[in-house]
Amino acid sequence: MTDAAVIDAIGHHLPEARETNDELARRIDTSDEWIRTRTGIRARSRAGDDEPTSVLATRAGREALGRATNGGADVDTVIVATTTPDMKCPATAPVVASDLGLENTATFDINSACTGFLAGLATAAGLITSGNSRAVLLVGAEKYSSIIYPQDRGTSPIFGDGAAAMVLRPGYRQQAGAIGRVHLGSDGRLWALAHVLSGGSAQPLAADPHDPFLRMDGRATYRHAVARMTDSCQRVLKDESLTAEDVDLLVAHQANARILTEVARELEVPAEKALVDLTDIGNTAAASIPVALSRAQEAGVLRGGETVLLTAFGAGASWGSTVLRWPELTSPNLTTTEGPNR
Ligand code: COA
Repeated sequence: MTDAAVIDAIGHHLPEARETNDELARRIDTSDEWIRTRTGIRARSRAGDDEPTSVLATRAGREALGRATNGGADVDTVIVATTTPDMKCPATAPVVASDLGLENTATFDINSACTGFLAGLATAAGLITSGNSRAVLLVGAEKYSSIIYPQDRGTSPIFGDGAAAMVLRPGYRQQAGAIGRVHLGSDGRLWALAHVLSGGSAQPLAADPHDPFLRMDGRATYRHAVARMTDSCQRVLKDESLTAEDVDLLVAHQANARILTEVARELEVPAEKALVDLTDIGNTAAASIPVALSRAQEAGVLRGGETVLLTAFGAGASWGSTVLRWPELTSPNLTTTEGPNR
């Protein structure tokens, strides 16, 4: 009997366009030097007007399905983790399922901001181990440029657009790629750390031009992100009877390079084992962890057998962590010179 969900395939899609720090500095009061030293970001990915979240998600989903066992023919659930759905209703997942030609699938979104992909992993694993789903396509997809107030220098430099998708199917706890315990938590009292005021039932219409866009208390977010990701990682390591020394790769939500460094230091994971995958794309929120994993797989950083620690912190204030042994996956781009990001 199956007792775990296992990772079968992964893929990602990043829009081609980038807004560099210098370009940003031409329209807001900032500088390349300020952004690089505070965040580690040099450019952020920007989807076009004709590329809503569902388009990015569908492209990532198609890549993952193309690498999945049987082309993912048995996928019966599509979950999209996103803070930037195409529209308020319906969810983005049914649009993605339809665009991928997946009929009669269960579809829903998860809105847990940057923690969304980890909440999605826990959900997908529950659906599979309970027998409610044969295979799940889990997508993290964001078009944060759609909720960034163009003149806001606290958020404009940070966020980018992108998507990544994973196919999960039934397997065994001892198998590489098995999803074990996902530690999830939140402190709802801190919901105002990062929020979009209007467009919901509390305030349908904007009273101020900034209301439809993200407001973020950057400094407080930074502090809570470091503390919560560290604590959550320590819990999952303890649950799995592992220590920081067992970790081959720390893939934290790509919020900001300084946050990544600090979490690694707090955990006593050597800095070279903390993946940094935001320099050319920025923070892609719910997409950042799977994009980082997919790019690490394509670059040969992940080959199979590595102990990978995943952790995230996001609006809500929510957080999550899990640790897993990376599986050997089919990655066509390893054997060709062409493909995304080459
Ligand atoms: N360019 C230049 N100066 C800027 C600026 C920008 N883009 N943004 C803010 N500043 C200025 C401020 O006005 C302030 O000036 P002052 O000291 O004269 O008042 C100074 O820089 C410090 O501002 P502060 O907001 O305290 O900066 P910070 O060191 O906290 O860095 C962030 C700001 C946003 C980079 C940082 O807080 C951060 O990365 N937070 C985490 C955000 C994040 O990762 N969110 C996603 C989590 S899911």
